[in-house]
Amino acid sequence: MNIEKAVIPVAGLGTRFLPATLSIPKVMIPVLDQPPLHYCVAEALNSGITKIIFVISENQRDIIENYFNHHDAVIDALKSKGDMELLNRVEEISHMVEMDFVIQEAPLGLGHAVLMAKNMVGENSFAVLLPDDLILGNNPTLKKLCAIHAEGNEVVLAIKKVAPESIPNLGIVSTNDQEGEIRDITGVVEKPSLPKAPSNLAIVGRYILPPEIFQALEHSNQGALGEIQLTDAIGELIPHVGCKGYLFKDKHFDVGIPIGLLKASIHQALKRDDTHDDLANWLSNLSSDKK
Ligand code: G1P
Repeated sequence: MNIEKAVIPVAGLGTRFLPATLSIPKVMIPVLDQPPLHYCVAEALNSGITKIIFVISENQRDIIENYFNHHDAVIDALKSKGDMELLNRVEEISHMVEMDFVIQEAPLGLGHAVLMAKNMVGENSFAVLLPDDLILGNNPTLKKLCAIHAEGNEVVLAIKKVAPESIPNLGIVSTNDQEGEIRDITGVVEKPSLPKAPSNLAIVGRYILPPEIFQALEHSNQGALGEIQLTDAIGELIPHVGCKGYLFKDKHFDVGIPIGLLKASIHQALKRDDTHDDLANWLSNLSSDKK
């Protein structure tokens, strides 16, 4: 069964980006010139998703809907300028995305956000993408997850080796396999202390989940940080449906924090012809600057 729907949670106060988030949703603060949400939607569409369910805060709908609208005046201007590259980027998402919105009234956790989408998701397996996790590669990571899911209808998670200091902030998996890009996951734990972490493999913001996740979420108690955690509900499902982890190799940035967003912007600017030389030159002179 193809994965057709994706849930993208974007509600939340964005406290790590204050004061910018007093008026701009965190997911709209650009990586160089393109918001993380655009990257996320493009990855979903390039993975075969046809409908996106945004879980938002009350005041976010207009901003997000407007971004993904068809902007005739901008498109006409780009056509007459002959800027086809930018035109393609602007048009990339406005054509294809079918959007729905559901409001998460209170920030009760990622699991709670996903549960808000229950009625819109319906009876089939679906994807979840977290826009804080920007994954840049030639082939969308989510597409690979969809292919793995098609093999056995299991839960599928993107995973990555992380440094010890990151472990207490992330979902960590246990696995019996020592190698290979696809691992059998035997358990998951959200934000463990270092001594309790079963591995150094973390869950990274891309999931394929069966609809049974909603029952598990409905019965979930508060977990790490006093929130309803998606990881805990996944842990409930693993003995029943199984779980695979895909150890992706592409570049990953945590754009949910300012330094991660800055690194992602620099990475993108160094890849682009119009910004590479200027930035590389400026960076090479930076070491002489004092704090
Ligand atoms: C969430 C998930 C966590 C995952 C992380 C990064 O945590 O709960 O399992 O490892 O995203 O994708 P959060 O960043 O919302 O605290």
